[in-house]
Amino acid sequence: MTTHLDHLATVPLLRELPRSTLEELAASTQERQYDPGETIVEIGQPGRSLFLVLDGRVQVVFPTRTGDFELASLGPGEFFGEMALLNGMPRSATVRAVDAVRTLVLDKDDFRVTITDTPSVALEILEKLSTRMRRADEQISGLSEQVVRDSLTGLRNRLSFRERISEEIERTRRYGQAFSLILLDLDRFATINDTLGHDVGDEILVWVGRILTEHTRGADAAFHVGGQAFAVLCPSTKGEAARSVACRLVEVLNEARPGISQDVHVSASAGYATCPDHGDTISDLYGTANGALEAAKDAGRNEVCGPDPEEA
Ligand code: CMP
Repeated sequence: MTTHLDHLATVPLLRELPRSTLEELAASTQERQYDPGETIVEIGQPGRSLFLVLDGRVQVVFPTRTGDFELASLGPGEFFGEMALLNGMPRSATVRAVDAVRTLVLDKDDFRVTITDTPSVALEILEKLSTRMRRADEQISGLSEQVVRDSLTGLRNRLSFRERISEEIERTRRYGQAFSLILLDLDRFATINDTLGHDVGDEILVWVGRILTEHTRGADAAFHVGGQAFAVLCPSTKGEAARSVACRLVEVLNEARPGISQDVHVSASAGYATCPDHGDTISDLYGTANGALEAAKDAGRNEVCGPDPEEA
């Protein structure tokens, strides 16, 4: 009992408690030890206790179909298992011992009495919960970035393109703001891949991603929509302005030399279409821009074409 009391007195969560309360708590806590890899708390199970870590580290994970996703790693002085006790819901995550772990375990009822009687403990718990929530928000936003970014080029991917173009179309419908879609396709990319190898092909795609990011305005958004195909959405841009953005990108790609392992010349063709002038659905706009892109390829590549023949 004396040992528990000594331990409890060192736990930051309880440091403001008067000695008499600590003594009462010490009488009702138990010490429990866990081997490396052992599960201490299992997601979905009812929660009956709070755990204070005395020694060792635990890993808080959320099990997914593809494996465990680590939410946090907690060490001596920290606590876990508070959520289920506070909200009455099943355990929100699985907690495992990383190495040999020693904990003090506080029963649910004693935990509730402690936080009801001692505002400083309730405050510590609130502070910890808000930090955990903030970290979780950051993790979620990092993950959603991964979902919308293409891991090779770092540009937004096809999924993100569909979402963004739908948003732009909606904006055009509501506020009458025109926007343009530019489709770019690298010329003879299959030949580069076949002759120089896919690693060089990948280096070129990364370089193109960088060029598109550097040579578009902050309001524009560049996407890697698949293979050697890229798209740029230009808000508040139509007609000649869209053409000049497309021409600038095609020109830069043709003139710059990719600083990659092989000295290789890259060029691209582009087609563009404007919403609402050339359609106000994804398929109409994409179809029109793609038709213009094919016209640019037919015109000899390293070219830009618009939707109307006179703009070609
Ligand atoms: P509880 O839901 O009772 O059981 C699992 C515990 O893991 C949970 O309480 C918290 O103590 C802890 N936990 C859950 N999510 C996080 C997180 N995002 N960061 C840190 N700890 C967490």
